[in-house]
Amino acid sequence: MTEKIKALLQEVEAFKAETHEQLEAFRVKMLSKKGLIPALFQDFKSVEPAMRKEIGQQLNELKNFATDKLNQIREQLEHTTGSIQNQDIPDLSMPADQYPLGARHPLSVTRNRINGIFEKIGFVISEGPEMEDDWHNFSALNFPEEHPARDMQDTFFIGKNPDLALRTHTSSVQVRVMESQKPPIRTISPGRVFRNEAISARAHCIFHQVEGLYIDKGVSFADMRQTLLYFAREMFGEKTQIRLRPSFFPFTEPSAEMDVSCSICGGPGCPVCKYTGWLEIMGCGMVDPNVLENCGIDSKTYSGYAFGMGIERIAMLLFQVKDLRMFFENDLRFLRQFKAAL
Ligand code: PHE
Repeated sequence: MTEKIKALLQEVEAFKAETHEQLEAFRVKMLSKKGLIPALFQDFKSVEPAMRKEIGQQLNELKNFATDKLNQIREQLEHTTGSIQNQDIPDLSMPADQYPLGARHPLSVTRNRINGIFEKIGFVISEGPEMEDDWHNFSALNFPEEHPARDMQDTFFIGKNPDLALRTHTSSVQVRVMESQKPPIRTISPGRVFRNEAISARAHCIFHQVEGLYIDKGVSFADMRQTLLYFAREMFGEKTQIRLRPSFFPFTEPSAEMDVSCSICGGPGCPVCKYTGWLEIMGCGMVDPNVLENCGIDSKTYSGYAFGMGIERIAMLLFQVKDLRMFFENDLRFLRQFKAAL
């Protein structure tokens, strides 16, 4: 018995492990229920009484020694390999992952350019709510009661309330500015607008506008024309020509539609300008005196002009996009093409 105990003591003493698996195998061999050391405790039952004390002591020492040794090796393994590997600590000397830079949405690029062009000549940006009441979207802007734009066909009303709708243009913001500020007023209002239109390559029920307003003493149609010519040249190039065609809006008198010379063919005609050499880009006109009065501005002292354009339309011309729906689909293959545009 003493021989066996000695042999096991030596084996435990000599044991080394490099992995948790080796350590576990050794523990099973020595200390598990069917292991060698518990087997010795079984044999101990047949030891004659005179020897029991001594052998019992040796056995307990062997068991304690083996248990301590295994614990010690386990601790070492955890320090050097196991737990650290498991936590998967990164190599801090590696170069960092490269995150690809995104691109601004083409509508944001276009809006920022339009804003920048007007900001350069003193216009400030104003914003307003997307949900509007009848007064700010229609009545203050001189829309007659029976005007078709108020019709359910065009306007998204909110619930059953006839006084609450999604704004159909950002002229509503300009009403708010005129009501709360005194002239001179020089402002542009970029924003999202809503109209109940069938979605196609040229129209959407949600789109974006930038509208502008300038009110002061003695503002004339010629001032408007010159400002819009400056805008067109900044936007589409210095050779750009503009043309104003008579039109109608309830809130301006006289009113006009503005065309720019085709930035794609430069004049002779192409499919984009439908072989006319001209592209329509905005509505404009002198603010109707009724609108000024509705907003608390004396129309005998002050006059002004207003204009409004669709950002999608400008972006389509700028980037030669043929289908307006692409701006809303958020297909990354489309959006990634605007990385270079700022
Ligand atoms: N509010 C008009 C529209 O949404 C655009 C416009 C603004 C026309 C200002 C004239 C003057 O179509």
